[in-house]
Amino acid sequence: MNSFEWNKIIGAVLGTAVFIFVVRLVAEHVYEPEHPEKPGYVVEGVVETPAGGGAPAAPVAEVMPDWGTVLPAADVAAGQASTAKCAACHDFAKGGPNKIGPNLFAVVDRPRGGHEGFSYSAAFKAKPGNWTYDELFKFLKSPAVDIPGTKMSFAGIRAEKERVNLIAYLRSNADSPAAIPAPKPAAAAAPAAAAAPAGGPVASPKGGAPVPAPAH
Ligand code: HEC
Repeated sequence: MNSFEWNKIIGAVLGTAVFIFVVRLVAEHVYEPEHPEKPGYVVEGVVETPAGGGAPAAPVAEVMPDWGTVLPAADVAAGQASTAKCAACHDFAKGGPNKIGPNLFAVVDRPRGGHEGFSYSAAFKAKPGNWTYDELFKFLKSPAVDIPGTKMSFAGIRAEKERVNLIAYLRSNADSPAAIPAPKPAAAAAPAAAAAPAGGPVASPKGGAPVPAPAH
């Protein structure tokens, strides 16, 4: 073979490569899949990735109640009535037995998985911390979602009010009930209260009795 033939062969190979490249470019352009702005269906419980990639949006967390406000107003008797749902597995009396679940006397502020003589799941042991109002509120909504792998097979209580009442009862069911935090100040109320009431009495400059505001 002389160099002229080699040139033809190389030319043919290069030509084929360029041809394939061009065909692919065109094909990709023509058949570019169209991504709809919104998926045609939504699967519940699946966290959607925001358009354009990036980290998935955090699941929307339930807003925690302001315990200082809701606990004093809670219906403890209604909360106690709700414990009928727990009674198959839990005893609530002081010194009462562990059943399928641990005894729940004075459970508020007690360390998670901390009741003597009960054999807790590995999931519980792996999650230290105390049963604060917030933690109980999250757990009782859906035990298996809050602590995956828990052996408390209870669907949970969706209604916020019922959970609040129940937690108020759990709090009261103790020798010395856990402290209730101070209510959070309403954000908008503070500046409004600080402002002088329009047209109200004006303090006299010499520090004497307030003098009425001049009539307009
Ligand atoms: C089907 C049985 C069952 C029912 C019904 C049930 N629980 Fe439980 N509960 C358990 C078990 C079992 C555990 C221990 C969980 C583990 O180790 O994973 C537990 C754990 C708990 C804990 C944590 C206690 C600790 O010592 O850390 C709380 C609080 C609790 N349950 C509250 C309730 C309340 C309130 C109800 C009713 C609204 C309820 N449970 C209904 C079985 C049950």
